[in-house]
Amino acid sequence: MERLQKVIAHAGIASRRKAEEMILEGRVKVNGSVVKELGRKVTPSDRVEVDGVQIEGEEPVYFLFYKPRGVISSVHDDKGRKVVTDFFQTIEQRIYPVGRLDYDTSGLLLLTNDGEFANLLMHPSNEIDKMYVAKVKGIPSKEKLTSLARGVMLEDGKTAPARTKLLSVDKKKDTAIVEITIHEGRNRQVRRMFDAIGHPVLKLKREKYGFLTLNGLRTGEIRELTHHEVKQLRVLAMKKS
Ligand code: URA
Repeated sequence: MERLQKVIAHAGIASRRKAEEMILEGRVKVNGSVVKELGRKVTPSDRVEVDGVQIEGEEPVYFLFYKPRGVISSVHDDKGRKVVTDFFQTIEQRIYPVGRLDYDTSGLLLLTNDGEFANLLMHPSNEIDKMYVAKVKGIPSKEKLTSLARGVMLEDGKTAPARTKLLSVDKKKDTAIVEITIHEGRNRQVRRMFDAIGHPVLKLKREKYGFLTLNGLRTGEIRELTHHEVKQLRVLAMKKS
Protein backbone atom coordinates (compact mmCIF):
# COMPACT_ATOMS: atom_id res chain seq x y z
CA MET A 1 0.00 0.00 0.00
CA GLU A 2 1.37 3.41 -0.99
CA ARG A 3 0.04 6.90 -0.57
CA LEU A 4 -1.69 8.18 -3.68
CA GLN A 5 0.56 11.23 -4.05
CA LYS A 6 3.64 9.00 -3.85
CA VAL A 7 2.34 6.70 -6.56
CA ILE A 8 1.67 9.67 -8.86
CA ALA A 9 5.12 11.09 -8.15
CA HIS A 10 6.83 7.76 -8.75
CA ALA A 11 5.08 7.48 -12.09
CA GLY A 12 7.04 10.61 -13.04
CA ILE A 13 3.93 12.73 -13.52
CA ALA A 14 4.59 15.42 -10.94
CA SER A 15 6.49 16.08 -7.74
CA ARG A 16 4.87 14.80 -4.58
CA ARG A 17 3.77 18.31 -3.64
CA LYS A 18 2.27 18.95 -7.07
CA ALA A 19 0.56 15.54 -6.90
CA GLU A 20 -1.07 16.60 -3.62
CA GLU A 21 -2.39 19.73 -5.29
CA MET A 22 -3.77 17.63 -8.15
CA ILE A 23 -5.58 15.40 -5.65
CA LEU A 24 -7.04 18.40 -3.78
CA GLU A 25 -8.17 19.88 -7.09
CA GLY A 26 -10.17 16.70 -7.79
CA ARG A 27 -8.09 15.71 -10.80
CA VAL A 28 -7.33 12.22 -9.52
CA LYS A 29 -9.56 9.14 -9.63
CA VAL A 30 -9.06 5.77 -8.00
CA ASN A 31 -11.02 2.93 -9.61
CA GLY A 32 -13.27 5.47 -11.31
CA SER A 33 -14.09 7.65 -8.27
CA VAL A 34 -12.59 11.06 -7.56
CA VAL A 35 -10.43 11.01 -4.43
CA LYS A 36 -9.73 14.27 -2.65
CA GLU A 37 -8.08 13.05 0.56
CA LEU A 38 -4.31 13.04 0.79
CA GLY A 39 -4.17 10.08 3.16
CA ARG A 40 -5.63 7.64 0.66
CA LYS A 41 -3.50 4.53 0.10
CA VAL A 42 -3.59 2.39 -3.01
CA THR A 43 -2.24 -0.98 -4.11
CA PRO A 44 -0.68 -1.79 -7.49
CA SER A 45 -3.97 -3.34 -8.57
CA ASP A 46 -5.91 -0.07 -8.04
CA ARG A 47 -6.52 1.90 -11.23
CA VAL A 48 -5.27 5.46 -10.78
CA GLU A 49 -6.17 8.18 -13.29
CA VAL A 50 -4.87 11.73 -13.47
CA ASP A 51 -6.91 14.11 -15.63
CA GLY A 52 -8.68 11.07 -17.05
CA VAL A 53 -5.48 9.29 -18.10
CA GLN A 54 -4.51 6.06 -16.38
CA ILE A 55 -0.99 6.16 -14.99
CA GLU A 56 1.54 3.52 -15.78
CA GLY A 57 4.01 2.07 -13.30
CA GLU A 58 7.06 4.05 -12.32
CA GLU A 59 8.93 5.56 -15.25
CA PRO A 60 12.35 3.89 -15.63
CA VAL A 61 15.31 6.19 -15.01
CA TYR A 62 19.05 5.59 -15.36
CA PHE A 63 21.83 7.63 -13.78
CA LEU A 64 25.60 7.72 -13.77
CA PHE A 65 26.99 8.95 -10.46
CA TYR A 66 30.52 9.93 -9.47
CA LYS A 67 30.48 8.45 -6.00
CA PRO A 68 32.75 10.19 -3.50
CA ARG A 69 34.68 8.21 -0.90
CA GLY A 70 32.93 7.90 2.46
CA VAL A 71 29.50 7.06 1.06
CA ILE A 72 27.64 3.74 1.33
CA SER A 73 26.35 2.12 -1.90
CA SER A 74 22.90 1.65 -0.44
CA VAL A 75 19.59 3.45 -0.08
CA HIS A 76 19.66 3.40 3.73
CA ASP A 77 22.21 2.98 6.49
CA ASP A 78 21.27 1.96 10.03
CA LYS A 79 24.26 3.85 11.40
CA GLY A 80 23.16 7.06 9.70
CA ARG A 81 26.15 7.30 7.38
CA LYS A 82 25.81 9.03 4.04
CA VAL A 83 24.27 6.82 1.34
CA VAL A 84 24.34 7.24 -2.43
CA THR A 85 20.65 8.12 -2.67
CA ASP A 86 21.28 11.17 -0.43
CA PHE A 87 22.67 12.71 -3.62
CA PHE A 88 19.38 12.12 -5.48
CA GLN A 89 16.93 13.87 -3.20
CA THR A 90 15.09 15.62 -6.01
CA ILE A 91 14.46 12.33 -7.82
CA GLU A 92 11.03 10.89 -7.05
CA GLN A 93 11.65 7.41 -8.43
CA ARG A 94 12.90 4.71 -6.06
CA ILE A 95 16.34 4.21 -7.47
CA TYR A 96 19.08 1.94 -6.15
CA PRO A 97 22.67 1.21 -7.13
CA VAL A 98 23.60 -1.36 -9.76
CA GLY A 99 26.12 -3.37 -7.74
CA ARG A 100 28.25 -1.55 -5.23
CA LEU A 101 31.44 0.31 -4.55
CA ASP A 102 33.03 0.06 -1.11
CA TYR A 103 32.54 2.89 1.37
CA ASP A 104 36.13 4.03 0.71
CA THR A 105 36.05 3.56 -3.06
CA SER A 106 35.18 6.49 -5.30
CA GLY A 107 34.09 6.47 -8.91
CA LEU A 108 31.51 5.44 -11.41
CA LEU A 109 28.31 3.93 -10.07
CA LEU A 110 25.06 3.39 -11.98
CA LEU A 111 21.69 3.83 -10.31
CA THR A 112 18.28 2.91 -11.67
CA ASN A 113 14.78 1.86 -10.70
CA ASP A 114 14.72 -0.71 -13.52
CA GLY A 115 15.18 -4.06 -11.81
CA GLU A 116 15.40 -6.05 -15.01
CA PHE A 117 18.19 -3.77 -16.31
CA ALA A 118 20.08 -3.90 -12.99
CA ASN A 119 19.88 -7.71 -12.91
CA LEU A 120 21.05 -7.96 -16.49
CA LEU A 121 24.14 -5.84 -15.81
CA MET A 122 24.96 -7.54 -12.53
CA HIS A 123 24.54 -11.10 -13.78
CA PRO A 124 27.94 -12.81 -13.42
CA SER A 125 27.81 -14.24 -16.94
CA ASN A 126 27.48 -10.78 -18.49
CA GLU A 127 31.06 -9.86 -17.83
CA ILE A 128 31.02 -6.10 -18.33
CA ASP A 129 34.54 -4.70 -17.95
CA LYS A 130 35.11 -2.36 -15.03
CA MET A 131 38.32 -0.34 -14.97
CA TYR A 132 39.80 0.77 -11.65
CA VAL A 133 42.80 2.88 -10.76
CA ALA A 134 44.45 1.78 -7.52
CA LYS A 135 47.14 3.43 -5.47
CA VAL A 136 48.96 0.57 -3.79
CA LYS A 137 51.58 0.14 -1.12
CA GLY A 138 54.97 -0.80 -2.54
CA ILE A 139 55.91 -1.12 -6.16
CA PRO A 140 54.57 -4.34 -7.74
CA SER A 141 56.98 -6.21 -10.00
CA LYS A 142 56.08 -7.16 -13.55
CA GLU A 143 55.69 -10.77 -12.39
CA LYS A 144 53.22 -9.82 -9.70
CA LEU A 145 51.14 -7.80 -12.15
CA THR A 146 51.23 -10.73 -14.57
CA SER A 147 50.01 -13.05 -11.82
CA LEU A 148 47.14 -10.63 -11.14
CA ALA A 149 46.33 -10.60 -14.83
CA ARG A 150 46.33 -14.41 -14.99
CA GLY A 151 44.15 -14.74 -11.90
CA VAL A 152 44.94 -15.10 -8.22
CA MET A 153 43.49 -17.49 -5.68
CA LEU A 154 41.13 -15.78 -3.22
CA GLU A 155 39.10 -17.45 -0.49
CA ASP A 156 36.10 -17.59 -2.87
CA GLY A 157 38.10 -19.07 -5.77
CA LYS A 158 40.48 -18.01 -8.49
CA THR A 159 39.82 -14.67 -10.15
CA ALA A 160 39.14 -14.49 -13.88
CA PRO A 161 41.82 -13.00 -16.14
CA ALA A 162 42.30 -9.26 -15.66
CA ARG A 163 44.23 -6.53 -17.45
CA THR A 164 46.80 -4.54 -15.49
CA LYS A 165 49.04 -1.60 -16.29
CA LEU A 166 51.57 0.14 -14.07
CA LEU A 167 50.82 3.84 -14.52
CA SER A 168 53.39 5.45 -12.22
CA VAL A 169 55.59 4.86 -9.21
CA ASP A 170 56.65 7.04 -6.29
CA LYS A 171 59.90 5.58 -5.04
CA LYS A 172 60.17 8.04 -2.15
CA LYS A 173 56.74 7.19 -0.78
CA ASP A 174 57.04 3.56 -1.91
CA THR A 175 53.68 3.55 -3.67
CA ALA A 176 52.48 2.84 -7.19
CA ILE A 177 49.45 3.65 -9.30
CA VAL A 178 48.06 0.65 -11.16
CA GLU A 179 45.20 0.39 -13.63
CA ILE A 180 43.25 -2.85 -13.41
CA THR A 181 40.30 -4.03 -15.49
CA ILE A 182 38.13 -6.88 -14.25
CA HIS A 183 34.72 -8.12 -15.26
CA GLU A 184 33.73 -10.01 -12.14
CA GLY A 185 31.98 -8.21 -9.31
CA ARG A 186 32.93 -10.04 -6.14
CA ASN A 187 32.92 -8.28 -2.81
CA ARG A 188 36.02 -6.07 -2.34
CA GLN A 189 37.57 -7.94 -5.24
CA VAL A 190 40.23 -5.45 -6.35
CA ARG A 191 41.39 -4.87 -2.78
CA ARG A 192 41.59 -8.60 -2.14
CA MET A 193 43.47 -9.19 -5.41
CA PHE A 194 46.14 -6.66 -4.47
CA ASP A 195 46.29 -8.06 -0.93
CA ALA A 196 46.96 -11.46 -2.51
CA ILE A 197 50.10 -10.15 -4.24
CA GLY A 198 51.29 -8.31 -1.13
CA HIS A 199 50.49 -4.75 -2.25
CA PRO A 200 47.49 -3.51 -0.28
CA VAL A 201 45.30 -0.84 -1.86
CA LEU A 202 45.59 2.61 -0.29
CA LYS A 203 43.11 4.33 -2.57
CA LEU A 204 40.67 3.00 -5.17
CA LYS A 205 38.61 4.62 -7.89
CA ARG A 206 36.41 3.07 -10.59
CA GLU A 207 37.03 5.03 -13.77
CA LYS A 208 35.11 3.02 -16.35
CA TYR A 209 32.07 0.77 -16.54
CA GLY A 210 31.96 -0.83 -19.99
CA PHE A 211 32.22 2.14 -22.36
CA LEU A 212 31.03 4.66 -19.74
CA THR A 213 33.54 7.05 -18.16
CA LEU A 214 33.44 9.80 -15.55
CA ASN A 215 34.27 12.43 -18.18
CA GLY A 216 32.68 15.78 -17.43
CA LEU A 217 31.66 14.89 -13.87
CA ARG A 218 33.18 15.98 -10.59
CA THR A 219 32.94 13.95 -7.43
CA GLY A 220 29.36 13.89 -6.11
CA GLU A 221 27.89 14.82 -9.50
CA ILE A 222 25.24 12.94 -11.45
CA ARG A 223 24.11 12.72 -15.03
CA GLU A 224 21.28 10.86 -16.66
CA LEU A 225 22.27 8.15 -19.14
CA THR A 226 21.06 8.76 -22.69
CA HIS A 227 18.60 6.33 -24.30
CA HIS A 228 21.41 5.27 -26.58
CA GLU A 229 23.74 4.48 -23.67
CA VAL A 230 21.05 2.42 -21.94
CA LYS A 231 20.50 0.49 -25.18
CA GLN A 232 24.23 0.01 -25.67
CA LEU A 233 24.63 -1.33 -22.13
CA ARG A 234 21.84 -3.85 -22.71
CA VAL A 235 23.49 -4.96 -25.96
CA LEU A 236 26.88 -5.23 -24.23
CA ALA A 237 25.46 -7.31 -21.39
CA MET A 238 23.44 -9.57 -23.68
CA LYS A 239 26.35 -10.16 -26.04
CA LYS A 240 28.31 -11.78 -23.26
CA SER A 241 25.60 -13.98 -21.80
N1 URA B 1 36.76 -3.86 -5.80
C1 URA B 1 36.98 -3.43 -4.55
O1 URA B 1 37.84 -3.95 -3.84
N2 URA B 1 36.23 -2.43 -4.09
C2 URA B 1 35.29 -1.81 -4.83
O2 URA B 1 34.65 -0.89 -4.35
C3 URA B 1 35.08 -2.27 -6.14
C4 URA B 1 35.84 -3.30 -6.60
